[in-house]
This record gives sequence, structure tokens and C-alpha cells, in this order.
Amino acid sequence: MATLAVYPGSFDPLTNGHVDIIARGARLFDRIVVAILVNAEKAPLFSMSERVEIAREDFKDRPNAAVDTFDGLLVDYVERRQAQVIVRGLRAVSDFEFEFQMALMNRRLSPNVETVFMMPAEQYTYISSRLIKEVFALGGRVHGLVPDLVEQRLRQKV
Ligand code: PNS
Repeated sequence: MATLAVYPGSFDPLTNGHVDIIARGARLFDRIVVAILVNAEKAPLFSMSERVEIAREDFKDRPNAAVDTFDGLLVDYVERRQAQVIVRGLRAVSDFEFEFQMALMNRRLSPNVETVFMMPAEQYTYISSRLIKEVFALGGRVHGLVPDLVEQRLRQKV
């Protein structure tokens, strides 16, 4: 049976760390769906349609990667899609505690779904969407840390 993986997150915005994880997931699984959580934050910098557009643009040449949105419990979405795997990126030990809690809670809610942790390339281990927004807002360079389209859109927002 083909393995479908779901890579969930807020992706506000998509970073090169996310892109790296998706590339790795697309090599490991038959299909991977980037699932963007609706209303993760009350005031996201990028609207849902912008986040979907950016992700679709970035993965347009990757036929087994798709982009979708979800609302509510992640495991409900995963079951609806009949996916077997949740992919999460682990950058540092500091990510581990929360990710471990989420993985075990998701396993309790849906015992047949496995969470698979993947490490991004070392050069992306310190990047987070939150830091990208903060650095950019304060005039710092984010070139090379996010897809070009994200950089363009960030410039349009200031
Ligand atoms: O990009 P993020 O903010 O780290 O992603 C977190 C996300 C979207 C994976 C998590 O908040 C989530 O799964 N939210 C959906 C609601 C849910 O299922 N909560 C219980 C998780 S154990």
C-alpha cells in the first residue's frame, strides 16, 4: 500500500527548513501533504491563501508533494485523508519535549498513525518562522533562509 505522510504546521511563513523536510519526506514516502493549520494564530503575518500559494509554488515541480489546509484535530484530518504518517521536523533538543508530547497525544488519539521525526540540514537548524518574522521586521537579512517568494512577499508587507 502506498504510504501517505502529512506534514502539518502553521508555515507562517514557509522557511527553507520546512522545504528541506518536505524534500526529505517526498523521498521517503510515496506522497506527502503539507497541511497548513487554519487559525493557528489570531493574527498571522501571511493569510491562509498566501501560505497555500507560496507552498504550491515551491513544490510545483515535486509531483508527490501536495498542499492542503486543515482545521480541528490533526489526527482527524490524518484519518480523513487515510494517511499513515505524521512528519515533524526536529531542529534541536529544545524542540523535543513539545514534539514528544504531541506525538504521544496523537498516538493516544489515533494509535495507528505513526509520527516520524526528521532532521533538517544543519544550516537550517536555527531557523524558525517566528525568528524570520522578527529579524525581517527589524531590518535584518533573511536571504537564503526562506524561499525567494517568501522574501518578496515579506518586502511587500513593509
Ligand atoms: O508549525 P507549528 O505551529 O509547530 O505546528 C503545530 C501543529 C499545527 C502541528 C499543532 O498545533 C497541531 O497539530 N494543531 C492542530 C490541533 C491538534 O490536533 N492539537 C493536538 C495536538 S497533540
